[in-house]
Amino acid sequence: MILEALEWCVTPASWRARKRGLLAAQIAIRHRKRRCERFWRPHLEASRRFIEQCVEADAAGPRGLAVVLGSGHLNDVDAGFLARTFDRVTLIDAVHPIEVRLRCLASRGKWHCVAADLAEPGPEIDEIVRGASWVFSTCLLSQLVLCGPAGFASEIASRHFGLLRRARRAVLVTDTARRFSAGEDWVGLLGGFAPPEPSASWIWQLAPPEEHGDPRRGIEERRVEASVLED
Ligand SMILES: C[S@@+](CC[C@H](N)C(=O)[O-])C[C@H]1O[C@@H](n2cnc3c(N)ncnc32)[C@H](O)[C@@H]1O
Repeated sequence: MILEALEWCVTPASWRARKRGLLAAQIAIRHRKRRCERFWRPHLEASRRFIEQCVEADAAGPRGLAVVLGSGHLNDVDAGFLARTFDRVTLIDAVHPIEVRLRCLASRGKWHCVAADLAEPGPEIDEIVRGASWVFSTCLLSQLVLCGPAGFASEIASRHFGLLRRARRAVLVTDTARRFSAGEDWVGLLGGFAPPEPSASWIWQLAPPEEHGDPRRGIEERRVEASVLED
């Protein structure tokens, strides 16, 4: 707890990102991933594999710029694969963890961090996305919707999808629904927005009862859908 508070103080982040709880959430994810490692591993591997297969199937060859939207701790994208495959990598998130900032600093210009609010991307983000060989949006869309103003879920999701559509090639990996235990109905997370027909789909076991805190319920699961968009 003390270490988390210290990290909150020393991590560079805008006051807005701090106030909205995005920095605290970002720090909490690192600790949650460690606690839930065995539950998260199949999801993280599926996401990384999906991205790699899409890029490897690209006949034009993947060099150039890779952009990761909602890059966070780079859990669901393989940093080694990005480094081997692309000339440059731009990571965009409201908040970048310290270790990611250090990676960028040590990369001699190959890795670049951009702090931006992707719920309302400005022209700078538009330009980066248009100039990329590949854009990856990984487990960001549901966060944009959940943290956005109530009643605007579908609008926020459509805006994000529109941004991805402006890229030459993009991969969207997003959790689309949640449930507690296998017997329950899925509850949609995207406010009625229908993402494109997925090329792959899997279940992410997000939190066992000891993690979500309600012992009467089972494991919290997310349905994850992955699709590739090409112009
Ligand atoms: C579930 S995490 C996924 C993280 C990342 N893909 C990974 O592998 O670690 C969602 C990420 O979206 C970012 N995020 C949430 N809302 C955002 C916003 N409005 N603008 C930019 N990034 C945002 C968070 O900071 C976090 O890093």
